[in-house]
Amino acid sequence: MRRVYPIALLSLAVITGGIISVLRAADEKPKYTIKDVMKEHKKGALKDKVIDGKATPEEKKKLVEMYEAMGKDKPPRGEAANWKKLNDALIKAAKEVEAGKEGGADALKKAVNCTECHKDHKPK
Ligand code: HEC
Repeated sequence: MRRVYPIALLSLAVITGGIISVLRAADEKPKYTIKDVMKEHKKGALKDKVIDGKATPEEKKKLVEMYEAMGKDKPPRGEAANWKKLNDALIKAAKEVEAGKEGGADALKKAVNCTECHKDHKPK
């Protein structure tokens, strides 16, 4: 019995640890929140760098990831379908810039319409 006891305890610990990590994964937050993404939309921040062609490949990739995360986040206000439409346009344009597609920066500039999105989704 003396030998079995530590092993039983150990397996109990392993099982509990496994359950906890599964629960954590389900509760995982997106990499960026909407507010994180908005910080990069100030004048001269990441979004402007990408549009102005001053961003490194890593920065372009980061903007795509930010839009993808924002699309998965839930806006405080507005319809899910509209939120998805606006974010899909941002993701598409940011990916075009990342891929070096001609006109990508212009498409992104058009897609990043602050008031168009805020009027429906930003709390008043
Ligand atoms: C696709 C939608 C969308 C676009 C485009 C967008 N925003 Fe936002 N923005 C939001 C939402 C939603 C919030 C509210 C976030 C919250 O309160 O959780 C917000 C909030 C903000 C805030 C307040 C952040 C805070 O910490 O409370 C600022 C500043 C901001 N936006 C600036 C901008 C600027 C500048 C642009 C354009 C260059 C822009 N946003 C474009 C959706 C967008």
